Amino acid sequence: MEYTELANAAVKAKEKAIPPYSHFHVGAALLTEAGKIYEGANIESSSYSLTICAERTAAFGAVLAGERKFRAIAIAGDSEGFTPPCGACRQVLLELCGKDIDVILIDKKDNLKIFKLNDLIPFSFTEENLK
Ligand code: THU
Repeated sequence: MEYTELANAAVKAKEKAIPPYSHFHVGAALLTEAGKIYEGANIESSSYSLTICAERTAAFGAVLAGERKFRAIAIAGDSEGFTPPCGACRQVLLELCGKDIDVILIDKKDNLKIFKLNDLIPFSFTEENLK
């Protein structure tokens, strides 16, 4: 699977980040099964805990637009290395996008690392555990 376009979209989405406190820009690009890309970027709040990550803005935006089937999400951060999704985002992506999506990380040198979401959040809590 070639993810160059999706990775580029995640890097570009970083420009939309609003991180006045951490100064750490993160961009995300979520790919639907039909091939559409939804961007996300982190948006911070002066009430720090209200900050929302790039992955979740992408997922919520896509779902609000009516999307329910996803193939992959690409994530680009500001550090030299890779920016893996935080625990909260892993949980939300699992529930909204499904365990089988690919998670593509991009570093500053445009190297890609690809995971299955399921491998990033094993033995997860889902709606099945509420039954
Ligand atoms: N952040 C993300 O947007 N995604 C991640 O996967 C890790 C962290 C954001 C949250 C906060 O605005 C900043 O990066 C520093 O933690």
